[in-house]
Amino acid sequence: MSAEQAKSAAKGLLEAGLPRRWAHTQGVAARARSIAPALAEDAELVEVAAWLHDIGYAPVVRATEFHPLDGARYLRDVLEVDEVVCRLVAHHTGALIEAEERGIIELADEFPLPEQQLLEALTYCDMTADVDGRPVDVDERLGEILTRYPSDHVVHRSILRSRPALRAAAGNVLRRISRCTATARDCCSDRSVDAWTGPSAGR
Ligand SMILES: [Fe+2]
Repeated sequence: MSAEQAKSAAKGLLEAGLPRRWAHTQGVAARARSIAPALAEDAELVEVAAWLHDIGYAPVVRATEFHPLDGARYLRDVLEVDEVVCRLVAHHTGALIEAEERGIIELADEFPLPEQQLLEALTYCDMTADVDGRPVDVDERLGEILTRYPSDHVVHRSILRSRPALRAAAGNVLRRISRCTATARDCCSDRSVDAWTGPSAGR
């Protein structure tokens, strides 16, 4: 599936019924495109996963109320997308910890963990686009999620547990970006290089 096809699929599932989720999804995909130079040959794969990562919230997709698993199953069984994309969606942004909190034991059996660098890239994109799709830094995004869900909510508990790993994933991606930046400055304008890093660059 191409990025354009993934965008079309996500738009069809989210735009009308879940416009804010669609706005967030567009922001996550924009973040993926902004770090494409650092992802090299994996850039389109990560953008495809970015477009599709939250389709599990769509009413037609929702089954267990755990959106990474619902989304990944829909991608595997209905849209029949590449297995790597299904695994990325299943495990994005600390999903394994939330599955544990929810008592969902089948996640890792159905969808093995994808390659760490790809998962970190998708998680970085999700953690640097806010609910309306605006670019934010990781701690701002973490704070917003923790505020949106009450302290006894499974998402709140899960984010607290996965917070160190989410920060570490974002840090790893930023290091990859900065390694590419020096090279890129030789052939790109400063403005386009700055667009890779956005507001998270200083953290
Ligand atoms: Fe998301």
